Amino acid sequence: MIEIRNLTKKFGPFTAVDDISFTVEQGEVLGFLGPNGAGKSTTMKMLTGFLAPTHGTAIVCGHDVRTEPRAVKANIGYLPEGAPLYPDMTPLSLLRFVAEIRGYSGTRRNQRIDEVVALVHLESVLHQRIETLSKGFKRRVGLAQAILHDPEVLILDEPTDGLDPNQKHDVRALIKQMAPGKVIVLSTHILEEVEQVCTRAIIIAEGRLCFDGTPEEFRSESRHHHAVSLTVKTETAPDAAQALESLESVATVEVLPSANGTSSFMLFPRENASLVRDVNRFVHDKGWELEHLHVEQGRLDDVFREITQGAASTV
Ligand SMILES: Nc1ncnc2c1ncn2[C@@H]1O[C@H](COP(=O)(O)OP(=O)(O)OP(=O)(O)O)[C@@H](O)[C@H]1O
Ligand SMILES: [Mg+2]
Repeated sequence: MIEIRNLTKKFGPFTAVDDISFTVEQGEVLGFLGPNGAGKSTTMKMLTGFLAPTHGTAIVCGHDVRTEPRAVKANIGYLPEGAPLYPDMTPLSLLRFVAEIRGYSGTRRNQRIDEVVALVHLESVLHQRIETLSKGFKRRVGLAQAILHDPEVLILDEPTDGLDPNQKHDVRALIKQMAPGKVIVLSTHILEEVEQVCTRAIIIAEGRLCFDGTPEEFRSESRHHHAVSLTVKTETAPDAAQALESLESVATVEVLPSANGTSSFMLFPRENASLVRDVNRFVHDKGWELEHLHVEQGRLDDVFREITQGAASTV
């Protein structure tokens, strides 16, 4: 439903988006990750027909953003960065205005506004001027106008930015609930959010695409993926580090800082080794007193840093 072909944006001599191509299918929730200034918002602006590409194009629901921007906009709901809104309107008057632009009228219009207001919990501020709303409520009004016409494609630039934890939870649940019949592209700086709502993650650094895969694939890039953290009572295991190194399935042992009377280690597996079973048995056979044993899932921050800084250093 979205096809991005060699999309490029230059501002003078500066290339903000550099030859990006990918496609997104119905049902996918695509998370856009990348450092500040990477080109996420610029890509979204081109995708929604808000900025013209310097080269390349995007095809949305069969329409080319360069030649058929109105048809693209009709199929898209867009929450721009910072959720710009008319400050002297109220959420209700804004939603009525947007509904009319989107082709709703009469009872159907009012019904749809009621549905959307309930979905993003705007009841308490419907008649308050937008400029006097808190940041989170402004964001929710922005989200409401984006989903109002139940579009096939949703482009959400940091949809949970500035929301309280309850609202973050609700917006993520709403995104998941809407996902099956749509294409949703969202950007975020919350790496865990990608795992919670996205079926696919794309990382952009310095305008270039440098990762495209599932959230699991993203996490599995971490060197801590399937590592085992272990804490034992030191008096029962005085030579633990050396002993653990002798285990066949252990590639390396890192000594971690630990509390008095205990020793902690991070054990990295050899390829394809199932470490936790071996370590568990080993600890038991040695008679060490175990305080903690945990299979690490991988650290998203580390992977993000490696991928984005790695990409920057090759430029
Ligand atoms: N109109 C413009 N004129 C000049 N430079 C621009 C313009 N718009 C964006 N840029 C530059 O393009 C780069 C990409 O900006 P963009 O807003 O797409 O980043 P981003 O990935 O969304 O970052 P963030 O995570 O901070 O939102 C930045 O260096 C930005 O300063
Ligand atoms: Mg941005």
